[in-house]
Amino acid sequence: MVSARTLLLFGATGDLAQRMLLPSLFGLWADRLIGADFEIVGTARSNETDEEFRALAAAALERHLPAERRDAGEIGRFLERLRYVPLDLSDPAAFDALPRALGDRAAEPVAIFLSTAPSLFEPAIAGFARAGLAGGNVRLALEKPLGTDLSSSRAINDAVAAYYPEGQTFRLDHYLGKETVQNLIALRFGNALFEPLWNTGGIDHVQITVSETVGLEGRGGFYEGTGALRDMVQNHMLQLLALVAMEPPARFDAVSIRDEKVKALRSLRPIGRSDAATCSVMGQYGGGAIGGAPVPGYVEELGRDSGTETFVALKAHIDNWRWKGVPFYLRTGKRLPRRHSQIVVQFRGVPHSIFDTRGAGLTANRLVISLQPEENIRLTVMAKQPGLDRDGLRLREVPLDISLPNAFAGTRRRIAYERLLLDLIEGEQTLFVRRDEVEAQWQWIDGIRSAWAAAGTQPSLYMAGTWGPSASIALTERDGISWHE
Ligand code: BG6
Repeated sequence: MVSARTLLLFGATGDLAQRMLLPSLFGLWADRLIGADFEIVGTARSNETDEEFRALAAAALERHLPAERRDAGEIGRFLERLRYVPLDLSDPAAFDALPRALGDRAAEPVAIFLSTAPSLFEPAIAGFARAGLAGGNVRLALEKPLGTDLSSSRAINDAVAAYYPEGQTFRLDHYLGKETVQNLIALRFGNALFEPLWNTGGIDHVQITVSETVGLEGRGGFYEGTGALRDMVQNHMLQLLALVAMEPPARFDAVSIRDEKVKALRSLRPIGRSDAATCSVMGQYGGGAIGGAPVPGYVEELGRDSGTETFVALKAHIDNWRWKGVPFYLRTGKRLPRRHSQIVVQFRGVPHSIFDTRGAGLTANRLVISLQPEENIRLTVMAKQPGLDRDGLRLREVPLDISLPNAFAGTRRRIAYERLLLDLIEGEQTLFVRRDEVEAQWQWIDGIRSAWAAAGTQPSLYMAGTWGPSASIALTERDGISWHE
């Protein structure tokens, strides 16, 4: 596939562009992963000149690039690759400025990155088509949220499909750009060790936790009315679940991997009204403390009353042969005690212990995959405690620990968007979410939301700095399982 030499960046002055996209593009450019003649045409509503946009980008790079990457000469040359076109996406005639800005480049592959409010997706797409920026040469990337439920997501997908075939559509889930998330594929399918046990015969349960210490971060307008279920579970957590649960793909390519993920997602057992009370928990943080510092509650931060959940815990089942009877516990929330994303695979115990008669207990093996901030893989195994055992044999759980930064010392750790932007520019779709996946995700989430609505479920309050409402503890403890912390 021919790489794009031009990126049209919509929402170029926004928070995501400043924190992630511009620093990532700089990283790719400085490492010569994209051509020296690469051009970034930023657009947003505000009336800025090229120079003003470059100044904004320079400030963003200054703020968000790690110190060792801030090379003034390189940054200066990179900024010359930036241009700006003011564009009001709701004004159809405004799009005529785009082909003019692109000039000859409009005839080559172009990547468009749409990082705007989803309400603007449809007019934007119609505008691109009007400006001749649709068809075989154009790759369209869409940032989440892709709708607020299945029907709005379908409307967006239909609007996109009217001008961009699936092969040109790149739906982002930035978790798929994370190195450790991709490592799940390597771990599962690059090792013969796990696969024979990776099923109901070998695994007791799986836990997936994505905890954050941050609160609203000034995003009240977006978060209020969205909530943790749609903000985190619908996309990131279900993608993690799909990677853990999918069948081995036949090949490492966009079709095979996404085919297997969607099958797993479609096998999720719906959580309906009758089991919402036992299989789901929603919470909202009240005032508390994080890292010793007092923080206000959600409604104080927001400035008004709210029924939006900032915490969700779920017990999910995947109804297929592999996962029969294996619960997947998912948990995510804001203002929790620490930031970490982790997948815990709890294996079953040995079928018969020969150590019982010697008074030594066994703990079943556990695989803990830490995605962030630490990146490591830890397998706990039983080992004999050294000694002559006159007072009885003692076995203890010890970790086989692999720290990925140590194992791959000397390699640059790249942020998720660097990988995803480069894939977009080169037209590689494996790490982007296909329409059928997004829709299967929404279908399951919509079921939970309707169950909550039918039962009038309201979030339970939890104190900021704790692991969510006590009902979340009960969710696993009822099954004799504790959350891994
Ligand atoms: C985003 C959510 O998709 O992911 C945010 O909208 C959340 O609410 C963020 O904070 C978490 O991403 P990361 O990469 O920091 O785990």
